[in-house]
Amino acid sequence: MSTSPQHALRVLFVTSECTPFAMTGGLGDVSGALPVALREQGLDVRVVLPLYRSVDRGQLEELPGTLLVPTWDGAASARVWRGWLRAGTPVYFIDYPGYFDRPLIYGPNGGAYGDNLVRFAFLSRAAVELTRFLRWTPAVIHANDWQTALVPVYLDAFERAWPLSACASVLTIHNIGFQGVFPVEDVVFTGLTNGSSRGIEHWGSLNLLKAGIERATAVTTVSPSYAREIQTSQFGSGLQEDLRARASDLTGILNGIDTVVWDPRSDPHLPAHFDERSFEAKRECKAALQREAGLSERDDVPLLGVITRLTHQKGMDVLARALPRLFELDVQMVLLGAGDPEIEQSFVEAARSRPDRLRAWVGGYDNGLSHRIEAASDFLLMPSRYEPCGLNQMYSLRYGTLPIARATGGLDDTIEQYDERTGAGTGFKFHDLTPTTLFDVTGWAVSTWYDRPQHIRQMRARGMMKDFSWSAAARTYEQLYVAASRRHRAPHAVDSVRALP
Ligand code: ADP
Ligand code: GLC
Repeated sequence: MSTSPQHALRVLFVTSECTPFAMTGGLGDVSGALPVALREQGLDVRVVLPLYRSVDRGQLEELPGTLLVPTWDGAASARVWRGWLRAGTPVYFIDYPGYFDRPLIYGPNGGAYGDNLVRFAFLSRAAVELTRFLRWTPAVIHANDWQTALVPVYLDAFERAWPLSACASVLTIHNIGFQGVFPVEDVVFTGLTNGSSRGIEHWGSLNLLKAGIERATAVTTVSPSYAREIQTSQFGSGLQEDLRARASDLTGILNGIDTVVWDPRSDPHLPAHFDERSFEAKRECKAALQREAGLSERDDVPLLGVITRLTHQKGMDVLARALPRLFELDVQMVLLGAGDPEIEQSFVEAARSRPDRLRAWVGGYDNGLSHRIEAASDFLLMPSRYEPCGLNQMYSLRYGTLPIARATGGLDDTIEQYDERTGAGTGFKFHDLTPTTLFDVTGWAVSTWYDRPQHIRQMRARGMMKDFSWSAAARTYEQLYVAASRRHRAPHAVDSVRALP
């Protein structure tokens, strides 16, 4: 692939979150890192994101001109600001205060603003219009999750004329549990009509993700296992048939991690630095966090870390129920998370009754603390019911922290099961999600920690040496973009090739 900007493959990456500007979870990490990796590979990738209130405008530059966005209610005028990610990756911010100048990205208390359909339909339409505003025609627009799943629909419905008629669309599903479901009569807010809204209805409601799945040139998800799982009724959240219908265009590409931001050798959030040859300083990180957490400063007790959205998806209800038995073991636990108020409350109460065992930072988001927990913990618990990819297990492996995780989705793809005869593996995996199995697998990890410390050391070093960088994934995305772009421009040629015996 040419590295010259004129000849580089052009990709517009549209997202509702992007670290370090605005994020609530893994989509933000991915949007802040994958475009950079692609750019480093020579692609001309540009990112589009709303200008939320939380974005610091001090680092941005306002571009001259007005972006006119067709909406259900007539044309709306937005402004465009530009910021940068590493490797000279431009990020265009859509400035439309009526929709985006709000305290939160999606809504209060883990809930949704009442006008999220209008807000994200606007973002999707604005992204398509931005290509005209910039006089820059991409070969591919890459949309992410339901919030931007209307991008493929708008391209297909409204961009039948050159040059955007040649633009392919890729939709990545980061989490099939969130589909953008709204009352069917709200279709009016999308600007789509009976003639143009094909695929948007599902069981009597609007379903934006389903429409995107049906109309994107290619669909991806964030791990090979999850790509298989979502085609089954157990994991498909009702869209399994729609995904099976597109099985030949559906690819699972494992996420990477940002190895610059997550590097135990140089992480500015840590009190001490370490690598796979000497993790002595990991002890210092552990002692510092024990002090910060108000737990007794002991190196001879295993420290379990949890950093997550406190939700049903993440199995946090089951972990809460397992705590009384877990705390019969000689362990300490630190937990950082926000989410479901009931689950939050159960951890607040558990920490109140066992302050010697658990420190829970509940209800907030704290990036620095998440780095300190990754570095300090001996084990990281991820008992997810389902996990499209999961990033924390990869961060923890890089920080010499062994994951204890349910064998699902990306967790299963990235963690190798411990073998106590040989010491092989990088973590502890289990299948059934019950308080008893969670207790059992944690007991297995803890007994390994006490009885076979040499295995723990080997696993740590092995995990730290794994290459989870974005470069492999970025190469696969590039191939996918090229294939999607070719197929989109020459659908008949491809059909006839496929039809050959
Ligand atoms: P998901 O996107 O499903 O929440 P991932 O594992 O892909 O799960 O990504 C979660 C990301 O959010 C990780 O970077 C994790 O460290 C971060 N995170 C989750 N909760 C918090 C929190 N309360 N404070 C800081 N970081 C958090
Ligand atoms: C979603 C998934 C998570 C994944 C992330 C980034 O939030 O729940 O498993 O790592 O997206 O793709």
